[in-house]
Amino acid sequence: MAGSFAGRSFLTLRDYTPKQITRLLDRAAKLKSEQGASSQKKRQQRLAGYSLALLFEKRSTRTRCAFETAFGEEGGHVVFLSPQDIHLGVKETIEDTARVLGRMFDGIQFRGYRQDTLQTLAEWSGIPVYNGLTDLYHPTQALADLLTIREEFGDLSGRTVVYLGDGRNNVANSLAIGCAKLGINCRIASPGTLQPNPDVWAVAGAEAEESGATLDRTTDVDQAVVGADVLYTDVWVSMGEEQQEADRLKALRPFQVTNELLEATGNPHSIFLHCLPAVRGNEVTADVLEGPRSRVWDQAENRKHTIKAVVLESLGV
Ligand code: CP
Ligand code: NVA
Repeated sequence: MAGSFAGRSFLTLRDYTPKQITRLLDRAAKLKSEQGASSQKKRQQRLAGYSLALLFEKRSTRTRCAFETAFGEEGGHVVFLSPQDIHLGVKETIEDTARVLGRMFDGIQFRGYRQDTLQTLAEWSGIPVYNGLTDLYHPTQALADLLTIREEFGDLSGRTVVYLGDGRNNVANSLAIGCAKLGINCRIASPGTLQPNPDVWAVAGAEAEESGATLDRTTDVDQAVVGADVLYTDVWVSMGEEQQEADRLKALRPFQVTNELLEATGNPHSIFLHCLPAVRGNEVTADVLEGPRSRVWDQAENRKHTIKAVVLESLGV
């Protein structure tokens, strides 16, 4: 038994055991099948009377909409707060805002820059806090990625995911940890200047040793993709790093996911994933994104089911 999650925050996959992550995926799959089978009216209202604060320092389409629809479908109420709306970090300390929100809400979603802002919110609010993306991690994205891979292949352990692009960004970090924990072989192919964060890599390495997965980083694209079940990429310029665009475009050009690269896996069943938003012609060609091996729309939909699972489990309903 993976134990109760009631009252727990979801800040990084590091805090969750493989069993607990699997439990979240199982719950998400169940929620997804229930949604397919039932009409709007038959939806349960497990969050009736619950309120969620949505704090966004950065833009979002999927994450915001996933939290809003997941919470709303269950009868809950969300309040969206951008930096223009609240005093957080401007006129009021994070600790003070956290304590006030903790008196009014049942949970807080935070998307922003610093992981320590998220941690401070969790420490001072006394309610579950969910990481909707920081510079360091994007754990709800990794849950949706894992669910999408499981849907495709029926299992996770022993599969091989190859991530191409900025190997030190939030999406790569959470993906590497999630794969390592669940026994998925993970290879990160990125330029020398954008190799994985050493701390994150050490954590993922220890997890891979436990699960029996392999973990590799390389600058060699052709070598990296051989035998891959999944080719995964993300934008070359993450939010907040716009001033580095010119250097990134130059360094990352050889890491673009093309149909030739999918063919080079040698695996006729390999699929393409992207957390989105995508820049066609940069990290992926339009024909791959729109092609038969792309699962990006399922992956985007799975943000909602996985986020709903996290919220319901953490609120104990
Ligand atoms: N993948 C993802 O987090 O998308 P948004 O930035 O639109 O939320
Ligand atoms: N790495 C990207 C992910 C967007 C969902 C960013 O941080 O902008």
